[in-house]
Amino acid sequence: MAASIAPAVAPEDWVARSLRAVWHPCTQMKHHERLPLVPVARGQGAWLYDRAGHRYLDAISSWWVNLFGHANPRINAALKDQLDTLEHAMLAGCTHEPAVELAERLAALTGNTLGHAFFASDGASAIEIALKMSFHTWHNRGFADKQEFVCIANSYHGETIGALGVTDVALFKDAYDPLIRHAHVVASPDARLTQAGETAADVARRALEHVRSLFDARASRIAALIVEPLVQCAAGMAMHDASYIAGLRALCDEYGVHLIADEIAVGCARTGTFFACEQASVWPDFLCLSKGISGGYLPLSIVLSRDDIFAAFYHDDTARGFLHSHSYTGNPLACRAALATLDLFASDDVLTANARKSATLKAALAPLADHAQVRNLRQCGTIFAFDALIDDPQQARTFSRRFFENALQRELLLRPIGTTVYLMPPYILDDEELALLAARTRETFDATLAEAR
Ligand SMILES: Cc1ncc(COP(=O)(O)O)c(C=O)c1O
Repeated sequence: MAASIAPAVAPEDWVARSLRAVWHPCTQMKHHERLPLVPVARGQGAWLYDRAGHRYLDAISSWWVNLFGHANPRINAALKDQLDTLEHAMLAGCTHEPAVELAERLAALTGNTLGHAFFASDGASAIEIALKMSFHTWHNRGFADKQEFVCIANSYHGETIGALGVTDVALFKDAYDPLIRHAHVVASPDARLTQAGETAADVARRALEHVRSLFDARASRIAALIVEPLVQCAAGMAMHDASYIAGLRALCDEYGVHLIADEIAVGCARTGTFFACEQASVWPDFLCLSKGISGGYLPLSIVLSRDDIFAAFYHDDTARGFLHSHSYTGNPLACRAALATLDLFASDDVLTANARKSATLKAALAPLADHAQVRNLRQCGTIFAFDALIDDPQQARTFSRRFFENALQRELLLRPIGTTVYLMPPYILDDEELALLAARTRETFDATLAEAR
């Protein structure tokens, strides 16, 4: 019999049991031979508590999903009610109130421009759906040659095989290269690329010229361009000027290419407006939502699309329909969590409160701009980031893990992306928590740099 690679563990040792039985996401498991794993016992508000009672401020909203805190009483109450009413029913041949109400309310938030909601369970599935829908729309309309996609340099849209095709992050993609159908990659509008005398709008304009030349050459074969509006989050919180999104909309209209807005991370008020696209005063053809839409409670994703897209599938012929499905499509519990989340936005004037909290956090972080090893301190809505200047490649490679460990010692849950430190906290932090977050982020940064020396 083959020997187990893991030694026997005590029943109360949840970390060791987890490392043996649970294959953790986005993780080289061997790093956990020395990197701590937090055994989360419960959550309350912005805080997670481990089994020993230590607390950690969830400053990245548990991978950007948690908007209104853990164990939020209003979302909890809605879910308990839903649990006693209907936990799940299939959405083919049946319908139910939570799905209908959620679809209608999201459509209303787009001024009924994006009036058709297709449900799935996670972000990558939403991307797959938008890509398939775009291709299939063109196919049904007689443009079967439109089979190619365009993504932005450094973009991240998820890790299924299809989503990796429009993702431009080598670390996640290269191992699967032979399996992937690659998209065209166009220049990044990242505002950090400004040259002397340029503004972020100038970088956006240059990047748009690149899109135009690609469209000039290949628009007849391109189905859609996909973009994460305003902030390319997994790229390291790369922020760009809103004119880039308006410019993409104009180019897509001019050349007959669909525009897919991936608002999985930037939607639900992350950037200061409910949808990031609102800041460019445009709507895409497809808008993908996930993460925060269920308040961080349950897996849910939604692709919103326009009437003309829906109409392209509406036919007597079954095969012309959009036959994509997932077993838990439109799960009533997830939809009800989303409705409770939308209720919180409606009743608590969240956008105004967020603007005030962001100004407070921005002021508290401002001194970091003078730090000799900080570059590009930046903010968009409730997203804050800065790049650590670390010359030694080995120190740079381990920076994120060491920062994570040092942050835990200071009651913060923070996971830098490479050498980019970012904060994406839930919307419920009070002034004391905002001050604590800023002060301890700085302490953690200094402690991590001191180790390097
Ligand atoms: C912009 C964006 N798109 C898609 C995804 C994929 O979502 P999921 O992890 O739910 O598959 C993510 C996840 O971080 C994301 O940030």
